[in-house]
Formats: sequence, C-alpha cells, structure tokens
Amino acid sequence: MNKKKRILSGMRPTGPLHLGNLHGALANWLEMQKKYDCFFFIADWHALTSNYEDTGSISEYVRDMMVDWLSVGLSPDTNTLFVQSHIKEHAELFLLLSMITPVPWLERNPTYKDQILQLSNKDLSTFGFLGYPVLQAADIIMYKADGVPVGIDQVPHVEITREIARRFNYLYRKVFPEPESILTKTPKILGLDRRKMSKSYNNAIYLSDSPDNIASSVARMITDPQRAKKNDPGNPDICNVFEFHKLYSNKETANNINKECRKAQIGCVECKKIMAQNLIDTLEPIRAKREYYKARRETVDEIIKEGCNKARKVAQQTMEEVKSAMKI
Ligand code: TRP
Ligand code: SF4
Repeated sequence: MNKKKRILSGMRPTGPLHLGNLHGALANWLEMQKKYDCFFFIADWHALTSNYEDTGSISEYVRDMMVDWLSVGLSPDTNTLFVQSHIKEHAELFLLLSMITPVPWLERNPTYKDQILQLSNKDLSTFGFLGYPVLQAADIIMYKADGVPVGIDQVPHVEITREIARRFNYLYRKVFPEPESILTKTPKILGLDRRKMSKSYNNAIYLSDSPDNIASSVARMITDPQRAKKNDPGNPDICNVFEFHKLYSNKETANNINKECRKAQIGCVECKKIMAQNLIDTLEPIRAKREYYKARRETVDEIIKEGCNKARKVAQQTMEEVKSAMKI
C-alpha cells in the first residue's frame, strides 16, 4: 500500500484568527486533511522569538487557536494537532541542528533582515530570533514531512530547512527527507481598509466576532474608491465588498449586485448590509462550535493532550535515529 504523504505546518499563536487566515492557510489545511497524513501545530516557542517581553497572553492564545481550528473543522481524529512547547524533542533537535547550521545561512535569510527592519520597535538582535529557521527546521524534519504548506513569506525558511536536512544527512547518515514547500494561495479578500487583512493593521474580521461586530466592521469597509456618491456607477471588479459577496452570497445575489452596482441602482450601504448578513449566516456554524468549545476548556485541553501524545511518539522515534546517526 502506498503510504499517504505527510504534511506539516504551524501557526504562531499571536492572536485570534481572522477571515484572511480562514481563506488562506486554514482553507488549504481543510483540503489537505482529506488526502494526507497531516501534522498541524501551534508554534508557541516561535511566538516568543519576537514577543519575548510580553508573554502574558501566549498560553490563552494557544488554547484559543485550537478552539478556532476545531471550530472551522480540522479533525483531531484524522490529523495530529499539537502544541510545539509540549514536545520537548523540538528543543533537543533544535540544539543539535544549531551545531551544524552555519551562521551566514541565517544572517542572509531575507525574512530575518526584513523583520528586523519592520519591527524596529523591538530588539530582535537575539540569538533566538536569528535561530528562528533552525527551530522551524526542527519542527519540520522531526516528523519527516514531505510537504509544508506555507505562505510566500515562509518559503525561505523551508529552503533553509532543506539545506539543514541535507547537511545532516551528509555529515552523519541519511535520516531526513528534504521537504517541499506547498505555496498557499493568498486570499482574494482584503482588510476593511483594502490593505492585507492583518491583526496589526486593525482591519480584520475575526472568527470570534459577534454578529453586531461583523455588521459594524462591514459598514466601515472601503468600497470602490471612485464611487463617491450613490448616483455614481460603481465597479465591483475593484471593490473589496464584492469579493466578499463572491464568497458569502449566492450566485444570483452576486450577479444582481454586479449589474446594479454598475448602473448605480444599488447603494453601497445596502449592498454591504446584504453582504454582512450573508457573512454572519455563513459564519454561524463556526461561531456555534466556537461557543461549544469555549465552554468546555477540559475537552480542548484533552484534545491538545492527545494530539501531543501522538506527535511525541513520532518525535521520540526520530530522536532515537538522530542520536544513533550522530553517535551520541
Ligand atoms: N514560521 C511560521 C509562521 O510564522 C510558523 C511555523 C513554525 C511553521 N514552524 C513551522 C510553519 C513549521 C510551517 C512549518 O507562519
Ligand atoms: Fe462595492 Fe457594493 Fe458599493 Fe458596488 S454597491 S461599489 S459592489 S459596495
């Protein structure tokens, strides 16, 4: 029998998940879980690399992230869902890999340089931040993943992972396959202000938002910027609200809006109201599941524990092979 391909990916628990995450990474994971042997984990140690000063919310974000995952339909039965810091083997492999990783590989990592510039309010001149890709390499090769679904910004880290795996295999013995990145398509919808949807831009709609919250967020959305007055014809092709209609309204509604907008037969306020309601209705099952899990802390903790037990078994096996290859 052909063994299923193994897929692994992780997310840093830096806050609640929004629609950008849902239509980006999560949509992709939901597809993958149907076909592959999937390992998905919450990278709480990675969250520390840039948030080491303010660690107070991380553990709450971890549980919340698992709640979001379960609510959108990631299955804890067919996948291995776990938390990085619960598997101490990640730290051990990180340490061993750090011995064989040349510092210049890390210094020339484009994400490293970029983040230091972008997050200039933080002191990122730490050993841990430089070593971010080494920890990520440990996460990935620990489970001998074949494929790693990631956004474009993470591709350099998967590249470094391949280089580290290759170097390990060359120095000691072939233990690790070289994982491939599987590029996640960027979602078509943008944030309320038409920039990329992101927590740090304060322009996101969250899975945890209440219907009222959603309605008022949608009311704030920037539409076709050329359409100043209700009597001006609009252009749905460049309107973010219309992208939402394509996702959340039925075909007929979207088609009608498409026509009416171009002839100035519908105003943006009304158009948004229709969309907001459809969005609220679409998210309703997710919201209901969120409430279910939010009210059952022990259930979520139990799911985390079981996922970690599954992951740990694989990790321990790999560490045996690693240590035997390294003769330690
Ligand atoms: N660095 C990833 C991000 O910020 C999260 C991550 C950590 C990850 N370890 C991983 C992703 C391993 C894929 C595989 O999005
Ligand atoms: Fe966008 Fe709708 Fe306004 Fe047209 S009517 S510009 S699709 S919000």
